[in-house]
Amino acid sequence: PAPGWTTTSDVVVIGSGIAGLTAALRLRGQVDKILVVTKDVLAAGSTQWAQGGIAAALGPGDTPAQHEVDTLVAGAGACDLEAVRALVTEGPEAVRELIALGTRFDHSPEGELSLTREGGHHRDRIAHAGGDATGAEIQRALIAAIEQAPEIEVVQHALAVDLLLDGPAGEGAIAGVTLHVMGEGQRDGVGLVRCRAVVLASGGLGQVFSQTTNPAVSTGDGMAVALRAGAVLRDLEFVQFHPTVMYLGPESRGQQPLISEAVRGEGAFLVDFEGNRFMQGVHELADLAPRDVVAKAIMRRMMETGQPHMWLDARHLGAEFWERRFPTILATARAHGIDPVIQLIPVAPACHYASGGVRTDLWGRSSVPGLYATGEVACSGVHGANRLASNSLLEGLVFSRRIATVLPGELRPWSEPVTDTRTHGLVPGSVRAELQEVMTSRVGVLRNATGLEEAGVLLDKLAGVPAEAVDQESWETTNLVTISAALTGAAELREETRGSHWREDFPERDDVRCAGHFDTVMADGET
Ligand code: SIN
Repeated sequence: PAPGWTTTSDVVVIGSGIAGLTAALRLRGQVDKILVVTKDVLAAGSTQWAQGGIAAALGPGDTPAQHEVDTLVAGAGACDLEAVRALVTEGPEAVRELIALGTRFDHSPEGELSLTREGGHHRDRIAHAGGDATGAEIQRALIAAIEQAPEIEVVQHALAVDLLLDGPAGEGAIAGVTLHVMGEGQRDGVGLVRCRAVVLASGGLGQVFSQTTNPAVSTGDGMAVALRAGAVLRDLEFVQFHPTVMYLGPESRGQQPLISEAVRGEGAFLVDFEGNRFMQGVHELADLAPRDVVAKAIMRRMMETGQPHMWLDARHLGAEFWERRFPTILATARAHGIDPVIQLIPVAPACHYASGGVRTDLWGRSSVPGLYATGEVACSGVHGANRLASNSLLEGLVFSRRIATVLPGELRPWSEPVTDTRTHGLVPGSVRAELQEVMTSRVGVLRNATGLEEAGVLLDKLAGVPAEAVDQESWETTNLVTISAALTGAAELREETRGSHWREDFPERDDVRCAGHFDTVMADGET
């Protein structure tokens, strides 16, 4: 559709979680005009939902080097060392900056920052806030800072439809963004923002699967628009399934309640239906093994016993501790009819985090000139095949700071968009549930060649269903189809089991055939 309105901004930041808002705040004063656009309201993304916390070597005796080792081990040989080093070295200062911005982390009665432990960490290094409401507190502090920065313009309810280039996809540089805005006065409907750079910070793709910890907005839009603009994506097959997501029954769909790893960090443990602590003997860290190890052990036990879930036992933590340390999880579990103080919590793995995404260098630059990416949408190589717990908030923080260091000096001259907003190939929202079922059953925790091939065929069919309306629902669902197909293709190529990518037909890690990374690019003419 032709744009109904046009505006300009030097930089457009797409997304308003920790990555997007940090980028905007750090760019302030360095470029003339900054526009932050977000698909829903500012706090609707995944940051708000983060429970466990943010990892950084802040405690006595801890060092970035030890954080580096834990990150590399969790990443199962697929991390980029330089990216990990940047993350862990700059992490402590970045967290201190968040504190200076007004984030209220939990402290001990003696006034020390409280640090806890999660899967894969050999030290207490997870800072948290409000007990288990870390993301909400960080989001609050960042929104308060944005509200104090009138020079940063914010448009909510604005879906980024396409990135526009000044040359053909694969050659051109960023020249604009088309947005679909709803209910925001003058700038309603489809419009064009001409710009000189875009910072993609739009989060992940959890809604590709039937059950996810991600909010409804996580529909892979950023990865899909980047692919259509010719950007290279990488490591898409490495989708992390969180081991302890509350099981709400076979019919439950969409966002599911997370039971933070920090609950295990404070002493909770997994048991099967006979009360066996099945993580013992699986890994030296037992219930605090890296996330992929725990998720696989739970799935194996579910398959062996034919049960739809396992149990988390945290009763011994006691009512007072639960209320102080995990008030959000306690209230949510109780709202679903389980009281963790006296009952076991039913848990099963569900989609949690995309370790892959838009390929970037150490400074957030994608393969498209003028396009930067940070946070979950990006893949700098810090997570490898399996993200270490609580490294995600840190990643958004550190790499947005890095982007703000280089972007102002690299701003390109204004140029004319020559590519157009997509007008064909849209699929309707009505195919979404079927798409999620295809992805969950064939491209979920456990994968094999037959299932992946079937998924490819079924996704092709869904991609051919024509949308009746050009609206937000069809744009989002088209993005889900695009990303699902790309993810499935990457999972087919990786004929090994590594980190969060688990192939039934290739159960071993294969460092000879599968040592590299699988890039994904969109062929000309695809939608
Ligand atoms: C959790 O609190 O278990 C999630 C932390 C994370 O995803 O890093």
